[in-house]
Amino acid sequence: MQEIAFYNDQFVDMNEKVVPIQERGHQFGDGIYEVIRVYHGVPFYLDAHMQRLKKSAAAIELQLPFSVAEIKELCMEGLRRSDMEEAEIYMQITRGIHSRQHHYPDQPNSVFSMTVRRAKIISSQVRTEGINVLTVEDDRWKKCYIKSLNLLPNVMAKQKAITNGCQEAVYHDNGIVKEGCSSNLFIVKNGVLATYPALDGILHGITRQIVMELAKERNIKVVEKTFTLDDLKQADEAFVTSTNMEIVPLKQVDEDILPTERPISNQLIKAYQRKVLEKVTSLTSKITTTKLYF
Ligand code: PDD
Repeated sequence: MQEIAFYNDQFVDMNEKVVPIQERGHQFGDGIYEVIRVYHGVPFYLDAHMQRLKKSAAAIELQLPFSVAEIKELCMEGLRRSDMEEAEIYMQITRGIHSRQHHYPDQPNSVFSMTVRRAKIISSQVRTEGINVLTVEDDRWKKCYIKSLNLLPNVMAKQKAITNGCQEAVYHDNGIVKEGCSSNLFIVKNGVLATYPALDGILHGITRQIVMELAKERNIKVVEKTFTLDDLKQADEAFVTSTNMEIVPLKQVDEDILPTERPISNQLIKAYQRKVLEKVTSLTSKITTTKLYF
């Protein structure tokens, strides 16, 4: 097993210094990214991630250097080379290498890069006990639905959370709860699941979407609506979702401790694990085909 990296047009050693100084991703953060979780060698919801990648690219007027089919093949080739079963594929697409000027280069010359690394597995203890979150004022730009490379506010929010003994920061806008700095957020009150609507101000998480579908299949009412910090602190249950954390319950929000009984969160955690198994089994049974993604 080994970690794999790809830059522009070739696979490279993970530690090779390949990003040129003039790369606009490096100079401006001028680009977008995606993250895909791989279970048992199978990329989970790859098509949904590809759709979001296309949406982010269109939103910043970036031309993808490869077709979606080619990107999927690169993912599969990276996985094959890594020999990993449980992995995270990160891909970045930047506006390429040009002398420094703010406006777009005349000739589009975008660059694709990718890494395949071991997945960071969340322990069952963390998933049972939950995590602590720190609430912070949302100081990001207004287009958070774009999976932009510019993550400075998110990096600083996460650091503040960790410095304060928490594992995630939760953004609020004048008291309206939006999402985590690297996750979406749900609360449960009186049996109803609520999450901030898929407006421009949050990332439209793939895991968020899967969780809403799993809840609806189980007749759990889901509403996309705004709610306040007080609603979060007085919730019956709350959890964050993301590609690499999946579903992780909240134990504490700032100074407020949430109930430890979490029937709906636990039901959804199990449902998510079943969904992973279901997808993996249905695809690995067709292992002779090259199209292993879904
Ligand atoms: N982050 N909101 C933000 C701000 C995020 O950065 C993420 C994911 C999510 C959840 O989206 P999804 O379910 O599609 O992973 C929501 C990834 C994992 C990251 O930046 O590493």
